[in-house]
Amino acid sequence: MMMEKRDDHLFETKSAKGRSLFHLYGVSMFVSTCMIFVYRVSYFEERYWVYWMGLFLSEIWFTWYFFLILVIRWNPIYRYTFKHKLSLRYGEDLPGIDIFVCTADPVIEPPIMVMNTVLSVMAYNYPTQKLSVYLSDDGGSDLTFYAMLEASKFAKIWLPFCRKFKVEPRSPQTNFHTPPLDHHHHQWQSIKKSYEEMKHRIETATELGQISEEIRRKHKGFHEWDSVSSRHDHQTILQILIDGKDCEAVDIEGQPLPTLVYLAREKRPQFHHNFKAGAMNALIRVSSRISNGKIILNVDCDMYSNNSDAVRDALCFFMDEEQSHNVAYVQYPQSFCNPTKNDIYSNNLSVLQEVELAGLDSNGGPFSIGTGCFHRRDTLCGKKYSQECNKPDWKCCANDTKIEESREVLEDTCKILASCTYEENTLWGKEMGLMYGCLVEDIITGYRIQCRGWRSTHFNTERKAFVGLAPTTLLQSLVQHKRWSEGHLQIFLSEYCPYLYGRKKIPLKLQLGYSLYSFWTVNCFATLYYISVPSLCLLRGIALFPKISSIWIVPFAYAFFANRAYSLGEFLWVGGTIKGWWHDQRMWVFKRTTRTTSYLFGFTDNILRLLGFSKSAFVITAKVAEEDVSQRFEQEVMEFGVSSPMFTVLATLALLNLFSFIGGLKRVVLDMQNEVLDLFAAQIILCGLVVLINLPVYQGLFFRKDLGKMPSSVTYRSIVFALLACTIAAY
Ligand SMILES: *[C@@H]1O[C@H](CO)[C@@H](O)[C@H](O)[C@H]1NC(C)=O
Repeated sequence: MMMEKRDDHLFETKSAKGRSLFHLYGVSMFVSTCMIFVYRVSYFEERYWVYWMGLFLSEIWFTWYFFLILVIRWNPIYRYTFKHKLSLRYGEDLPGIDIFVCTADPVIEPPIMVMNTVLSVMAYNYPTQKLSVYLSDDGGSDLTFYAMLEASKFAKIWLPFCRKFKVEPRSPQTNFHTPPLDHHHHQWQSIKKSYEEMKHRIETATELGQISEEIRRKHKGFHEWDSVSSRHDHQTILQILIDGKDCEAVDIEGQPLPTLVYLAREKRPQFHHNFKAGAMNALIRVSSRISNGKIILNVDCDMYSNNSDAVRDALCFFMDEEQSHNVAYVQYPQSFCNPTKNDIYSNNLSVLQEVELAGLDSNGGPFSIGTGCFHRRDTLCGKKYSQECNKPDWKCCANDTKIEESREVLEDTCKILASCTYEENTLWGKEMGLMYGCLVEDIITGYRIQCRGWRSTHFNTERKAFVGLAPTTLLQSLVQHKRWSEGHLQIFLSEYCPYLYGRKKIPLKLQLGYSLYSFWTVNCFATLYYISVPSLCLLRGIALFPKISSIWIVPFAYAFFANRAYSLGEFLWVGGTIKGWWHDQRMWVFKRTTRTTSYLFGFTDNILRLLGFSKSAFVITAKVAEEDVSQRFEQEVMEFGVSSPMFTVLATLALLNLFSFIGGLKRVVLDMQNEVLDLFAAQIILCGLVVLINLPVYQGLFFRKDLGKMPSSVTYRSIVFALLACTIAAY
């Protein structure tokens, strides 16, 4: 009987292998940190108590942080789906899926890229009448609208082609990159030609920056732009480009097409638009009127679907009779197609996505990262979990119950839902939809859903379901990371702090899991201390670690090297390379040091601005020749190029450690009694490692000639700062 039941499941869960080894490692680390504390307390150096205390506090902090890391990794779980059972059990009787794609700027996010995303999700292996694709255009651009129009036509040949030859992936751009080997080569070429023509038309229009009269005449939708004064001030523009219920909306083989909707919500200068969260909420309301799919998928406009079965996989988690009752969302990892082999900016986040999200899954559910996330519509709209409501009727199709309206009437009623005033005095943005006012709106929304009693699921497959573009410069990477870590900290400091608001609502393990990310920011103070103060003390001749001949060095060495060895092992396990791990370590240092100091800079910047001395220093200056940048990215050469305070910080720290390292070596050489090496070995090693990891910075400062080198203003400033710090330390 038990066996039979198991066979019924649409998905199964397995624990990761080798956990006991990990637990052993955790315990040994715990023992060694205890020894470190014993040493710090019993050998307390009163003369240098300031340095000593700082180091001690940092070590306590690292231990606490390590504890959080242990909690997250204690029991990672992996999920496997049986989608053939889904088809056997439900046939075509599947729930409606509403897919939301958000774009905000036709320049930063070129319409042709967005259309590749749209086409790839339109081509899911799923009953087309049940699929609806919505594009929210916060740029309010007729260029994007025009591209949609073109895509809606191209879909008529693209979808049948995908279906017939089961082509993968279904983003035309990626697909046409590599010619197929088999029989459909001929057809492939003719469709490729149509795609190239469409791409050319869209790109020409994008370059011109406007739509020609001739095209404008072809669709009444363009009239909407007659009254648009700017992207920040316009009425709602809503066009149903393909109406799935319309029997004329068919592809060239007579099969129905998915519904396709263009929406630019109303924007007025006096109303705050709440960024992506605002756009998503408008889409939730508009889609509820048009298709009302029970499941909502959200994808970023630069992330195409790389697996046409991803919808069916996700449904296995929602439709399992026994295990699905409390699943609110299914999160796929975010993958990238552009990082180079050794991933110089550590963009892949493989460890976070494949180990930590899997660990969070067993603790109550991963957070929602915004893209590649399937949501149950009603949980997104604020529904609480309760035992009774756990049997949704997936088979019932919302569309059937709707009164048939003409397309124009439907468009007009929906426009009201996307107006600026609609949300006034409602719970939208607070209890309903995505939450407003947070830098990481997806994460806080997912967290609030979990607090209402739901859980979430992480699903990762060998072949990635969603593939997008990662930042290609150091600064972009750092800025992005800064936004995430500030967003997490913001949640922690708000009324929704996981330890307070989350108490009794989500498991303690999950509270701790969330706080790991909130503490990214705090962590950087300890790191900054650890990589600057011991080096400066070395210059001055203050020893902060046990002698190398003493037994007390063992716990320090163990904690450091075992920890790094584990991190290397983990990195290789998720498919990284050794060099990639080294780059990851560097980015880890960079991210932490720039973050702490960026607050300081942000603070001084604000004061200077108030006094009228400076314009915002964080504005990223115009990019140098794109061609150049991407070439260096391909060659894994670190990109500096612009003058940013972040780089000043990096360079200052790099130089400071270099000077201290040289100073330390000098001490060893001049030493006659051979005591210095014994006393300072740990500090010299630490300092030397920091120097080693900063090699690209020295190159950028002194040896490179290309446009991506450190700007000379940064070089001068950092030399002055580093010399100043060293002089103060030495005397
Ligand atoms: C995307 O899908 C293709 C197969 O269609 C696969 O070869 C490729 O590895 C996938 N990409 C990623 C990043 O997994």
